[in-house]
Amino acid sequence: MSEEMKTTQPEKKKRIFSAIQPSGTITLGNYVGALRNWVKLQDEYDCIFAVADLHAITVRQDPKAFRKNILEAYALFLACGIDLEKSLFFIQSHVHTHAELAWVLNCYTQFGELSRMTQFKDKSAKHADNVNAGLFTYPSLMAADILLYQADLVPIGADQKQHLELSRNIAERFNGIYGKTFTVPDGYIPEVGARIKSLQDPTKKMSKSDENVNAWVAILDKPDVIMKKFKRAVTDSDAKVCVGEGKDGINNLIGIMSAVTGKTADEITAEFEGKGYGDFKTAVGEAVVEEVRPIQERFAQLIDDKAYLEEQYRRCAEIALKISQRTLDKAMKKIGYIPRPF
Ligand code: TRP
Repeated sequence: MSEEMKTTQPEKKKRIFSAIQPSGTITLGNYVGALRNWVKLQDEYDCIFAVADLHAITVRQDPKAFRKNILEAYALFLACGIDLEKSLFFIQSHVHTHAELAWVLNCYTQFGELSRMTQFKDKSAKHADNVNAGLFTYPSLMAADILLYQADLVPIGADQKQHLELSRNIAERFNGIYGKTFTVPDGYIPEVGARIKSLQDPTKKMSKSDENVNAWVAILDKPDVIMKKFKRAVTDSDAKVCVGEGKDGINNLIGIMSAVTGKTADEITAEFEGKGYGDFKTAVGEAVVEEVRPIQERFAQLIDDKAYLEEQYRRCAEIALKISQRTLDKAMKKIGYIPRPF
């Protein structure tokens, strides 16, 4: 490349890949911890996102609810701000290369490595009646998702770090045997990833699998439900709105307030000086209601427009297939397969 071209060509953006499982509800924790960060990355990076519906059948799904959840996840992520003019956003099961590369990578992943995954150990203990092989090989499917797109960076929560590390090891191993085939991806842990805790037990992560529905807030919860959940949030007997040790509940509420308003903990403390927890909890609830209001409105429009959704997930899947097929073909050729005749 000539010197002149070097200066005039825009620098190639780094590629990001991430996916979220369609699980029926997106909590405030998912939104602030993951989704909202994806939205911010769209200008700076070449982003590819997916609804990880293949991963979802490692636990049994009711067909009707599952179909609904997948489409709702697609609509809800768009409502949260995934911009189809900037990013590619598809449904994993629509792009057959994922399952194909996952099989290939399974043969380059060791039993011992998969056995060490803490998520496998946790989930197999939790679903002792259905410890299926898919639950075990889940990380090689995740590796396939990432490696198919030659992603440079993968935004993930702390619970997926071990899986990403395994993806890197698989990529390095394959490249070591056959020469450079896959980009070895780095994790991307956002700088200000507020970790939202349970409203009922603030030492635990906010999770929709919590039996106590008051422990978590869903993005699509109605305003009065959100208010009720915040009013019931666990606090302490100190009665001062400030960050402190042994004040997990208040720390969490301050974290949430800060995440949705952009105010710092100090600003929030100053604002609520002399005020009681009741006032503070109401204010946090109101701030969250305001944050999710536009998302709920946009979701209602999108879910009513099935034709638009289909047009978009089809278009994105077609592009995703083209990109990923190139990588799959390359990997299979290196292994020694005869090129596909069609
Ligand atoms: N396993 C991830 C989760 O449950 C979802 C996922 C699937 C994913 N494929 C991925 C995340 C690829 C990042 C990259 O959260």
